[in-house]
Amino acid sequence: MEKEITINFEVIANYDHLTDIEKTLFDKAKTVRAQAYAPYSNFWVGCAVLLENGEIITGSNQENAAYPSGLCAERTTIFWTSANFPGVKIKKLFVIGAPKEALTSTPIPPCGSCRQSILEYESKQKEGIEIYFASLDGEIYKTKSIRDLLPFSFDASYL
Ligand code: THU
Repeated sequence: MEKEITINFEVIANYDHLTDIEKTLFDKAKTVRAQAYAPYSNFWVGCAVLLENGEIITGSNQENAAYPSGLCAERTTIFWTSANFPGVKIKKLFVIGAPKEALTSTPIPPCGSCRQSILEYESKQKEGIEIYFASLDGEIYKTKSIRDLLPFSFDASYL
């Protein structure tokens, strides 16, 4: 028997449709992208998260000559967040990625490993993390939970 899974996402046509705090998060993700360390792929990614206490944490991808030792912008950001603000809920996560010199781009969703890592913190805090992945120009895809990007997800409930 075949079954279907429905995932929900919203397409936000442009920057003007964002709230003020969302605009700030978009701006910070775009700005911090310029500080990526990505000499091997030349693909520069910036991330910004909003915490329930109003703090905004940013990060970028960090590559390594031993390629697998590098880390994506999302995990750099959420690991630092959890290390420094344990127990403080993450409300929103913005990510913007594109080749270094790109002037336009398309929205880039978090990779599979980042989805799994974000899921860990979402499960821990028992509250959805809104994910926004955006183009440089401000076209934005939004999900209310990382679970929409990771159907059939594996979490601690199976252990
Ligand atoms: N990258 C991210 O930072 N986030 C993603 O979700 C996708 C990929 C980085 C990893 C690597 O430094 C570069 O983009 C090319 O894969």
